[in-house]
Amino acid sequence: MEDNHEQKDILNTSRRNMLVGSVAATIAAGYLASGSTASAQAQPAASAAPTRPALPASGNTILITGGSSGIGRALAEQLHARDNTVIIAARRTAVLQDIASRFPNMHAMTVDVRDPYSVKRLAREIVEKHPTLNVVFNNAGIMRPENVFDGDSALAESSDHIETNLNGPIRLTAALLPHLAKQPRARIVNTSSGLAFVPRATFPTYCATKAGVHSYTVSLRHQLRRTSIDVLELAPPALRTELTPGQSRIEAFMPLDAFINEVLGLLDRNPVPDELIVERAKIQRLAEAEGRFFQTFEAINRADG
Ligand SMILES: NC(=O)c1ccc[n+]([C@@H]2O[C@H](COP(=O)([O-])OP(=O)(O)OC[C@H]3O[C@@H](n4cnc5c(N)ncnc54)[C@H](OP(=O)(O)O)[C@@H]3O)[C@@H](O)[C@H]2O)c1
Repeated sequence: MEDNHEQKDILNTSRRNMLVGSVAATIAAGYLASGSTASAQAQPAASAAPTRPALPASGNTILITGGSSGIGRALAEQLHARDNTVIIAARRTAVLQDIASRFPNMHAMTVDVRDPYSVKRLAREIVEKHPTLNVVFNNAGIMRPENVFDGDSALAESSDHIETNLNGPIRLTAALLPHLAKQPRARIVNTSSGLAFVPRATFPTYCATKAGVHSYTVSLRHQLRRTSIDVLELAPPALRTELTPGQSRIEAFMPLDAFINEVLGLLDRNPVPDELIVERAKIQRLAEAEGRFFQTFEAINRADG
């Protein structure tokens, strides 16, 4: 009798498992069948906030960290051209002031995102001077190679990356969240990287921080799903900026203006995708999902020996 019950239980459990397995298989098949474009821009049901109205393209007050060069500066100029008030922030005050002085309604503010006090001060000043702030781009970042055999100096590099690329965005988000939550419509955009999804081994902590930014952004989006704030991830491919010395001259890297144009196109979509993944970045973003992680890893790391 007992055996009979046990067998029935085993049977029921195995039927349940099969059902769960087949649901998972159906979802996986649908995901792959939907192709790269659809899967990269997929909106996970758990995070979707369909009732949130679209963020207008103009009239926002936008803070961009890392606004003194590269992606941050280019975004600042383009978003300013769309009639937004833009605040650019970074460490090099003179560079920021020079850029801001060329545009009405562009403002410069100094911050070192590695320093918790500097971040809190920036948040306080912005809320005071620009109380309409409703969009934040966590974009400041550094990328330097690390040799794991370099002992303490490798650890110092590692910490610098974590403080700048990962703790920086987490700190600024925490400092501005109470303010953003009061805005009728707000947005946080975190810059990760294609290297968050397939690392380049010469830059181990850089890639780890970007994978961290990706994961943090997924959780942040989920926690904020019932607020007025949407949370986006910008995962650029290799671009022609001076993130590492000389990379702006590498022809194989994507030109910055083409990248920014494609990103603006993604931002114009309604609903806006959770992840802003330009065509060039899909090779990395979808590597794992499309079962080609190791080939992609090999291809990215082959040139570095
Ligand atoms: N270019 C690419 O290939 C690529 C690819 C994927 C992801 N990304 C990411 O995109 C973001 C922007 O990079 P980029 O290509 O535009 O490079 P970039 O031109 O070197 O810009 C980096 C920006 O971050 C700022 N910054 C660095 N450390 C900072 C700190 N401690 N506090 C405040 N600001 C700081 C820099 O300004 P100051 O020196 O004035 O502080 C600069 O404005 C980074 O997060 C990067 O990881 C870039």
